[in-house]
Amino acid sequence: MSALLQVEDLEVHFPAGGFALPGRPKRLVKAVNGVSFELARGETLGLVGESGCGKSTLGRAILHLNPITAGRVVFDGTDMSRGEAADIRKLRSTAAMIFQDPYNSLSPRQSIGDTLAEVLRVQRKNSGGKIEERVRKLLSLVGLSADLINRKPATLSGGQCQRVGIARALAIDPQLVIADECVAALDVSIQAQIINLLIELKQRMNLSLIFIAHDLGVVRRLCDRVAVMYLGRIVETGPVEQIFRAPKHPYTAALIRAIPAIDPDLSLPQKPLGGEPPSPLHLPQGCSFHPRCPAVMEQCRHDPFPTDRFIDGRDVACHLYPTAEPSLNGQGNI
Ligand SMILES: Nc1ncnc2c1ncn2[C@@H]1O[C@H](COP(=O)(O)OP(=O)(O)O)[C@@H](O)[C@H]1O
Ligand SMILES: [Mg+2]
Repeated sequence: MSALLQVEDLEVHFPAGGFALPGRPKRLVKAVNGVSFELARGETLGLVGESGCGKSTLGRAILHLNPITAGRVVFDGTDMSRGEAADIRKLRSTAAMIFQDPYNSLSPRQSIGDTLAEVLRVQRKNSGGKIEERVRKLLSLVGLSADLINRKPATLSGGQCQRVGIARALAIDPQLVIADECVAALDVSIQAQIINLLIELKQRMNLSLIFIAHDLGVVRRLCDRVAVMYLGRIVETGPVEQIFRAPKHPYTAALIRAIPAIDPDLSLPQKPLGGEPPSPLHLPQGCSFHPRCPAVMEQCRHDPFPTDRFIDGRDVACHLYPTAEPSLNGQGNI
């Protein structure tokens, strides 16, 4: 069966803030800088990497919430990057995002019941009288009491708001959910409840999930595969256990080595490596990781970004590994 989602050479650039120097072109932030991957139906992909590497921008671009500069996003066989209104409507009715900040992603003037009812009405998921019943069901699905139905977001706790955010995403019976650090702002006990809820829902609804996270322990528990991002690119993708046990890319290795063995549930380290913190405004030549790479070689400084390297069931963007030999059927050994 074909993948639910195919992302091909996706780029998202933003104009950088500040003034351009006279005679010079305005500088660009290449927040997503050539990302390709596929997501199978029912699969959960963890997307990890340091703050600022482009995870949220990638998630938003997939759902057409950010304009795409170049590349393609094919969802359920339809090329969304053409920007056809009917296609975007279809995307909105089958794919949803759970945002990082539960308070700011809900309308402050609407009761949570109205917020959920509006999604059901706009996406025509339920007719008239059934809407309130469905809103109550959604609240109970995410473990919230129906008594909260008339409350405004400001009167709820962070955990309760995030559950409303999840209920809103699930209201459309989605095929794809992109959860952007959706538990990062919550207490540990609530985090565990929300993660358990996502595990249960993905099994029950055969949901495809892109789980953007700082918490590598949670990624290991929840995800089938993981994609590691660095400065707008995916540097390693593969089955989650393989990547955790034997990372191939020096950046993945540094991230995993930096998780203290005693507490695998710890977040991504703020500074997993020495060297300058990365900025997508000043992308280094060659492999963008080379200034911080412990295994840097001369070619890493000049040669184009290394792509199409497949080893041990994963895709690794690193000159340490040979380019895939084209096999007889013309496919890499992914
Ligand atoms: N709307 C925007 N305008 C300009 N720059 C942006 C915008 N959104 C994100 N960026 C920049 O793009 C880069 C990636 O950001 P983001 O996708 O939020 O990273 P992450 O989610 O991994 O922390 C950052 O340098 C950020 O400052
Ligand atoms: Mg983010």
